[in-house]
Amino acid sequence: SEPATSDFSAIESWEDAAVAARSCRRCDLWCDATQTVFGEGPRSAPVVFVGEQPGDQEDLAGKPFVGPAGKVFDRAMADAGLDRSRAYVTNAVKHFKFQLRGKRRIHEKPNAGEVKACRFWLDLELGFIKPQLVVALGATALKALTGHAGPLAAARGRELALPDGTPLLATVHPSYLLRLPDEEAKESETKRFIADLKHVGSLVP
Ligand code: URA
Repeated sequence: SEPATSDFSAIESWEDAAVAARSCRRCDLWCDATQTVFGEGPRSAPVVFVGEQPGDQEDLAGKPFVGPAGKVFDRAMADAGLDRSRAYVTNAVKHFKFQLRGKRRIHEKPNAGEVKACRFWLDLELGFIKPQLVVALGATALKALTGHAGPLAAARGRELALPDGTPLLATVHPSYLLRLPDEEAKESETKRFIADLKHVGSLVP
């Protein structure tokens, strides 16, 4: 049987956490989402990437970063010489939040309460994996991990740390690259993102 979400003592492993998260009711986002999208990757991963929240395709697939942003991420990882299958990939918030427009489900930013409620799961993931490095993809992840509410630009490229001392890097969210309207900006920002991922590779060879 699945341990109740409130029964913390029943969660003794990553597997327990992943199962318990399926019936999470810590905020209301479970109501409209298809399913919990827990993190994915080897439990021995040296690096954990944290995004914002699952999108439309992730919500349907039950896996993080498999939609358009995931494609950008995969491509940039490969261009930086990193192997995604060696990384653990997760999100600050584990249910898809959206607004229905006709038949389309439009991504909506999780609020501070939703991010805070979901910290419980992120803490468990980090606690079981104990990575050598955590990478925040975008401002929501950075805020969830550190409480840093300022602009991402102020944190980007610096070698930061979580309160427990785990090294932390922050870079942009891959969907930021998708949203850039101008091709030139898209190209230069993609290069910068790849450079940030190379920085990750230099810290976690
Ligand atoms: N955007 C995210 O932040 N996470 C995903 O899993 C997909 C898109």
